[in-house]
Amino acid sequence: MVKAELEAVVKFERERPDVYGNAHPKSLLRAIQEDGDHLGKMSNKHIYSADQFDRESLLQLFRLAAKYEANPDRFSTSLQGQILISAFYEPSTRTRLSFESAWHRLGGDIMSITDRSTTGLAKGESLADVGEMFNNYGDCVVLRDTNANSVRDMMGALRIPIINAGNGTDEHPTQALADLYTILKWKPELIAEGSEEKINLCIIGLPSKMRTVRSLLKLVALFPECFSQLTIVNDKSRSEMFDSGQLEQLQDAGVNVHTSDCLEDVLPDADVVYINAIAWEGNSFNQYGNQFHIDSTSPLKKDAIVLHPLARGAELCKSLDNTPHNWYFAQARGAVFLRQALLTCLVRRVERVLDIV
Ligand code: CP
Repeated sequence: MVKAELEAVVKFERERPDVYGNAHPKSLLRAIQEDGDHLGKMSNKHIYSADQFDRESLLQLFRLAAKYEANPDRFSTSLQGQILISAFYEPSTRTRLSFESAWHRLGGDIMSITDRSTTGLAKGESLADVGEMFNNYGDCVVLRDTNANSVRDMMGALRIPIINAGNGTDEHPTQALADLYTILKWKPELIAEGSEEKINLCIIGLPSKMRTVRSLLKLVALFPECFSQLTIVNDKSRSEMFDSGQLEQLQDAGVNVHTSDCLEDVLPDADVVYINAIAWEGNSFNQYGNQFHIDSTSPLKKDAIVLHPLARGAELCKSLDNTPHNWYFAQARGAVFLRQALLTCLVRRVERVLDIV
């Protein structure tokens, strides 16, 4: 589709938030050529880090997610006969419920564990042994654990795929997938062939502590040409802000990275503002950058969108909810379709859905 047509679709969609929840996925669907090979390669893979994805696999995954989102009723049996083990040993609203919603919407069945003390873990059973048991009972595992090592500890014993749904301060790869999916749905021109469109991304958060930010930065590094600038806003020194390798990965990819402790300076130039204040550390969460918050009086660009991946705190005022800047609700909604796409690939059902139009 040529750029003018894409823009017309996006404009139309922006005028119909009542119907489409701020964006119509068809514009993204049209911007990406189908290539099923990349999706097939995800069969039975464990997903523990955003580093596992390459650019083309991501685009194909987003295409499939957009296909689900554009035609939600056509895929209600794609995962029939499959069982998801949903194990969340830490509080979650968005991730657990969107994974479970995704699986239900595709016709699968679910076993959900929301408290590790109801499993053999409370009696000293190892994660590897629990994993061995999971092989017998389900077809895919989604795990959230405060312990960063848990996903890898379990992986060795699993013959069914496991997805890291957030492991301490380490990673939250599927949240990052949902974040990038939202950005590309908002502006599919970014990945249109021959496009020179770029956006200025502002992330208010702490990459060394926040798993959502850590995973998102890894995906940003795969699409350097989409970002004119990436600004990280927090009140830490650079050495506290980044773990070893984080900044280097972005710079090596050619991303133009800035840091700032002054939100007011940065906001007027930002196209996408991603804000989050929570990091899970140990068995609880800490808040960072409490002095940074945005509301409807903040100096946002007229067309800027705001994303927020986690439970809302004082950093994001409700006064933004009924403004066109609010893409955080669309972000949470889109995560269901993104997870539908990923789950379908992992449990080898992707060929069933590629032929459905
Ligand atoms: N995105 C995310 O991790 O949110 P929850 O903690 O609500 O799952």
